[in-house]
Amino acid sequence: MTRRAIVAANWKMNGDLALVNTMVSGLANVELQDNVNVVVCPSSPYLSELSAQVKTKQLSAAISIGAQNVSEHKQGAYTGEISTQMLQELSVKFVIIGHSERRSYYHESSTQIAHKVHTALTAGLTPILCIGESEAERAMEQTDTVLAAQLQPVIDEIGIEKFNDVVIAYEPVWAIGTGKTASSEMAQETHQFIRQFLAQADEDVAAKVPLLYGGSVNASNCEELFAQSDIDGGLIGGASLQVEQFKIICSAAKGK
Ligand code: PGA
Repeated sequence: MTRRAIVAANWKMNGDLALVNTMVSGLANVELQDNVNVVVCPSSPYLSELSAQVKTKQLSAAISIGAQNVSEHKQGAYTGEISTQMLQELSVKFVIIGHSERRSYYHESSTQIAHKVHTALTAGLTPILCIGESEAERAMEQTDTVLAAQLQPVIDEIGIEKFNDVVIAYEPVWAIGTGKTASSEMAQETHQFIRQFLAQADEDVAAKVPLLYGGSVNASNCEELFAQSDIDGGLIGGASLQVEQFKIICSAAKGK
């Protein structure tokens, strides 16, 4: 069985046009192992420039373009929102959905997130569905329950077969931007739980879905994390703003 690895840069509300330039030039000669996709997700104002540069420099095999959010609605009176059609026009292929910052600061519920996943899939975009527990939830040994409660509404809405076109990012909330990474054993154990949970619905789909780890991944810890049997790459925040560091992380990923 082959399962692709994905390394996705989540710039969050950081970066500028200069970073778009240096990232595209840097990734033009990145050395990747077999079966790895690199995805760059800048803030939406920079998607157009990233898309134009990837096209002009003929780098679409090396760099896929991702958005950080999308509306669950197709179009209409939703001030400030971005539709799947707008993303498609800019050659966007991936979209981060349900990041913990969206869940907590913008009160996105698991139901709304399920709608977003549905809308993205209908438009042919690949959702990077983020799930993860808080520090208090882990301390109370509720990690598995929380992850199951985040996944189930999506399974209910789209059906398990559609997970063939979904990427899942496990990001423990306490590890995001804190410098505290989950140990590779803890991350592997949780990834294994996620795969087993999906396997209850469909074993074949579960075996193929890429499961990314996110939360303070950097050039020093990526190799050990990516070596774990159920970790298929990463969703990288802070370290993706530094081109050389991000390239090291991309080079450490390998399809399984
Ligand atoms: P971090 O962010 O790598 O800065 O911890 C990861 C994320 O939130 O996607």
